[in-house]
Amino acid sequence: MSTRPFAVAIDGPAGAGKSTLAKILARELGFLYMDTGALYRTIGYAVLREGGDPADAAVVEARLPSLDVRLTHEADGQHVWLDGEDVNGEIRTPEVSRAASQVSALPAVRAYLLQLQRDTAASCDVIMDGRDIGTVVLPDAQLKIFLSATPEERARRRYEELRGKGVDTTFEQVLADMQQRDYDDSHRAAAPLKAAEDAVAVNTTGETVEQSVARMKKLVNDRLASCGR
Ligand code: DC
Repeated sequence: MSTRPFAVAIDGPAGAGKSTLAKILARELGFLYMDTGALYRTIGYAVLREGGDPADAAVVEARLPSLDVRLTHEADGQHVWLDGEDVNGEIRTPEVSRAASQVSALPAVRAYLLQLQRDTAASCDVIMDGRDIGTVVLPDAQLKIFLSATPEERARRRYEELRGKGVDTTFEQVLADMQQRDYDDSHRAAAPLKAAEDAVAVNTTGETVEQSVARMKKLVNDRLASCGR
């Protein structure tokens, strides 16, 4: 019987529904939800805010030693802190999305964030989402899910989310940004976005949130039972 904490690794492209579904699942199962994209976003945001170019490896790497990125988990969810300041509200803009994808291609950035992610999974049952959780961060996760949906459906979801926040954009712009980011995230040398060999593929196209949650919850419960929990 396994006594180590239970980890669910959820990977997939932007807009596949990772954070929406993982958040609900974590609440229903009593697991911690960790959104690892927020960490890359915070580093991208830090560089942008200081006027640096997030695509410039030398600039980003020079900032890493003085960077203080922390996570807290509160009643309203995960908060990310940059040098002692809560930046949760600042990291969801299209500009920061691009910067996050750029800094995430740097091996030094990935190495910088690795231990924080592993330490969290070692401390409690967790649902962690990102791009390389099942392949690199938690290769021994008890359950790995690779979430996907068609590019049009993912762009539509992200477009509605951005419009809901008052961001002035078009569907075509969101689709183009997302396809560029998917391409970059999947083709970088360091920990590219790809399904782990032992991941269960879940395509959420055309499903309601409730349907996807039910499907994923069954996967988790079946795996928990097979681990004697
Ligand atoms: O999940 P997100 O859209 O918040 O992620 C923002 C960017 O961060 C994404 O384009 C790629 C990168 N990322 C990553 O490389 N590895 C992760 N585990 C999570 C995110």
